[in-house]
Amino acid sequence: MTQKKEELMRREAWAIFQTYTRQPVVLARGSGTRVWDVDGKEYLDFVAGIAVNNVGHCHPKVIEAIKRQSEILIHTSNLYYTENQILLAERLKALTGMDRAFFCNSGAEGVESALKLVRRTTGKAGIIAAEHCFHGRTLGALGATYKAFYREPFRPLNEATFVPYNDVEALKAAVNEKIGGVILEPIQGEAGVYVPEDSYLRAAREICDDAKALLIFDEVQTGFGRTGRWFGKEHPGVQPDIMTLAKALAGGLPMGAMLAREDVAKSFQRGDHASTFGGGALVSAAALASIQAMEEERLVKRSEELGAYAMSQIQTNLDPREVRGRGLMIGVDLDADCKMVVEKALKKGLLLNNTGDHTLRLVPPLVVTKDQIDRGVRVIGEILEESSAVLEPA
Ligand SMILES: Cc1ncc(COP(=O)(O)O)c(C=O)c1O
Repeated sequence: MTQKKEELMRREAWAIFQTYTRQPVVLARGSGTRVWDVDGKEYLDFVAGIAVNNVGHCHPKVIEAIKRQSEILIHTSNLYYTENQILLAERLKALTGMDRAFFCNSGAEGVESALKLVRRTTGKAGIIAAEHCFHGRTLGALGATYKAFYREPFRPLNEATFVPYNDVEALKAAVNEKIGGVILEPIQGEAGVYVPEDSYLRAAREICDDAKALLIFDEVQTGFGRTGRWFGKEHPGVQPDIMTLAKALAGGLPMGAMLAREDVAKSFQRGDHASTFGGGALVSAAALASIQAMEEERLVKRSEELGAYAMSQIQTNLDPREVRGRGLMIGVDLDADCKMVVEKALKKGLLLNNTGDHTLRLVPPLVVTKDQIDRGVRVIGEILEESSAVLEPA
C-alpha cells in the first residue's frame, strides 16, 4: 500500500460513519470508462458509480455545461422559477410520456416522493413491493425495501407487503382495497439483475387498474439507456402512474426526480412536498447536457448492442451458471466466490461489483468499447482460472 492511500484510508476510519464496505482504493480521477487512483494506477470501470456514469466519467459536454452554468447561477430557491428546471421537466416529459416532474436529489428521495403521492392520491397506506427489491434507505423507502437486514433495526416502518417478483398470481392475490400502490423495478438491480417477463409488468398494470391502485416504476437504476431503451418500461410498453429517476439523470451530479401522470400529480397541493436543492440550476444544466450527449452519441442503441455483445462474450468465455440482463445491465452467476473475484479484479485494474456471493453485476458506462468489454471479460476469466487452479491442484 502506498503512503498516501494508507493515510487517507486511516483518516476515513476516524472521520466518516462506518456504513460502507469499501474496496481498498482511493480514486482520484475519471474519464470515459476509466478511472485512476491516487497513485496514478488506471482501472477499467464496470461499476460506473453503480449505474450513474452512463455517459462516462467527466463527459466533456457535462463539464462544459457545469462550467458555464456555475458562472451564471448555481442555486436559488424553489420560491423562484428557473429556466433549466423547466427545460429539464419538458425533456423528461417528452422522453417518458409522463405529465409532470418533481425534482429531488437522490433515488430514495424520488421513492419517498412517490410514496407520499400515493398516500395523498388514494388516502391508503398499503404498499406492495417485490421480494428482493431495493428502493432506498430513508424511512419511507426502507419500508418498501425487501432485505429484512436493512429494515429490522429501524422498525416501526410503514412496511410494504412483499410478493414474489415476476409472479402474476401472487401480485393479484395481494392487491386489495387497502393497497394504494404497487412499486416495482422494471428490472431488479440490487437483487442481481432479474428481468421479469414483459407480460408480468403488463399484468401489474391491469391489476392496479382493476383495484384502483397506483403503479410506480422505480427506474432509478434502469433509466437513461441502461437497459438498451431510454427507460425499462419501454420493454413491456407499460406506462406507470408514477416513475422515479436518479442515478444517471444528471451525468454524475446528484439529482432525483419523481414523474407522474396528470390526474395523480394534481393531488399534491402547494406545500405538500418540497426540496431546497431539487431541480437546481446547476444540476439541471448537467442533466440537460447529459441527455443531449446520450442522444448525440446514440448511447441507448449502443447499450443494446454492446450489452448483447458483452453477454455473448461472457457466455462463451466464462462458463457462467447464468447470464441475465438487458442492454448494459448484466448479472452473471458464477461457480466462484464473487467477493474474491471483485478483490482480485481490483488488483488487475478492473472495478467490479457483486450483488451476492455468486453474482456479479456489470453496469459499465454506455460509452464502453468492445475492446474494453473483451479486456474485462479476459480479466474475469483469468481470475476464475487462477482460482480453480488453487481449488483443484493437478
Ligand atoms: C432501484 C433503486 N431505487 C432506489 C435506489 C436508491 O437510490 P439512492 O442511493 O440515490 O438513494 C437505488 C439505489 O441503488 C435503486 O437501485
